[in-house]
Amino acid sequence: MQVHLSIYNWGNCRLSLKVSPSAEVIMAITRREQARNSETVAPENEVRLSESCETAPSSPVGVTGLNRRAFIGVATASVGALAAGFGAPAILRLASAQKGRGTVTRNRLRIPPVTSPISLSLGAAPATVDLGGGKLSSALAYNAYGYLPGPTLLASNGDTASITLVNGLAEPTITHWHGMVVPPEADGHPRYAIAPGGTYDYAFTINQRAALNWYHPHPHMLTGKQVNLGLAGAFIVRDAVEDALGLPSGAYEVPLIIRDANLDSAGNLAYNPTSSGFFGKIALVNGTRDPYLDVNQAVYRFRVLNGSNARVFRIALSNGTFTVIGNDGGLLPAAVQVAEIVFGPGERLDLLVDFRGLLGTKVMLKDLASGWNLLEFNVGSGGDSRDILLPSTLSTIEELSGPTEPTRKFQFEGMSRINGKRYDLNRTDFTVTKGQIERWRFTTKGNAPHPVHVHGASFQVQSRSGGRNRLFPWEGGWKDTVLLNDRETVDVFIRFDGYRGLYLLHCHQLEHEDQGMMSNFEVI
Ligand code: C2O
Ligand code: CU
Repeated sequence: MQVHLSIYNWGNCRLSLKVSPSAEVIMAITRREQARNSETVAPENEVRLSESCETAPSSPVGVTGLNRRAFIGVATASVGALAAGFGAPAILRLASAQKGRGTVTRNRLRIPPVTSPISLSLGAAPATVDLGGGKLSSALAYNAYGYLPGPTLLASNGDTASITLVNGLAEPTITHWHGMVVPPEADGHPRYAIAPGGTYDYAFTINQRAALNWYHPHPHMLTGKQVNLGLAGAFIVRDAVEDALGLPSGAYEVPLIIRDANLDSAGNLAYNPTSSGFFGKIALVNGTRDPYLDVNQAVYRFRVLNGSNARVFRIALSNGTFTVIGNDGGLLPAAVQVAEIVFGPGERLDLLVDFRGLLGTKVMLKDLASGWNLLEFNVGSGGDSRDILLPSTLSTIEELSGPTEPTRKFQFEGMSRINGKRYDLNRTDFTVTKGQIERWRFTTKGNAPHPVHVHGASFQVQSRSGGRNRLFPWEGGWKDTVLLNDRETVDVFIRFDGYRGLYLLHCHQLEHEDQGMMSNFEVI
């Protein structure tokens, strides 16, 4: 038996009742087109989608007295309650019934396979992937294995990476190793984009701190599309300093690549940005929709990347706090406990979460900005009650000191310009002397947030004035991407001591980048 009854339509939303084969009555508000397309809309999706229904009904037929909150709650009740009829009283009873888990189907979180970059062939090509639940979606993938994201590259400081990119796409591509300090010709500059069928050989010796970096395409004006359709992966570097800490490892160290996405009516990934950026209707964590992860009663280490094109997340746990131990450039000087973290596209976090003493509970990783439930942790009985004893100094960081006045100023303007200029592939916008500490000042002229990213070196954030008017605990140490909101001025100290040559400064809101919010500079 499957009865689906639409009770009330308003705007683009629909209030509906459904009687499922298990004789549950489910009341939901959905976007109309969504309701049409899907047999079983996961209640959690319904709740979320309903939040985007613009106008609440002023007085919908038969449901007077219900406030919008009550609507949004997904209620379940027995058919008996429904048998009283579809009049107001029955619906009122449904709405006040206990909020249950309903029929949300959660999918096991995918953990990408780990591979070495020491001798690697990396293919970028169209692929069919399972985003959870076995329904297949077309996407673009690195070394397609049926899921997103690409394999996690794992190497140690001192290793030499030797990677051949093979372009199996129908358009140019090139891969950038975000966060890695590599020679200019290995940095994935759009000038080096290769044609369909082409290959590009990368060789570089890793000479930097342990950190979560990542790789993604960087072709001129195609970065947003290719990243959004699936081309991204983690690149983890280890070193002796990190090893000595005895941080959670193996199954207790989990990469989380969090992003938003859109699916077309056939369920394929769809890149449909507006001029102000791509904002997807669903979340993917490691390419999994509505994921769960079974965890033991133990301390876990999560290596988190905001892999969205444009979306800024504000993450929190339903039950507990994060211990932040690192960010873009690796370990912080000291661990810090926080309840929520705001981070933009391209930024990374190294977090410890303690699930001890939580047997049988479910902990939700949430995005407070969108209201999404990103990842559910089910705490099981297995355990590793080992304490993770963190020293008061996690890592020693050379504190840069430099000029009090800005060496250079960069204004991020609208959706496509830096200091009045749109990107020109062949123009060098400025030169920087190798080895010198400079103060760079980032300001905005509208259309923020702009996550500002620099290639070729990490920087240390000095100050943020205006807007949020402060630095956050996860912005200490070394960063390569910093979030700039409207009315904010952010100063950083930066020193290029890697290689001479051509690098990039750009907004990591990928639609801004593709529209020209990027500059070439040369380290001389
Ligand atoms: Cu993550 Cu220039 O990019
Ligand atoms: Cu921007």
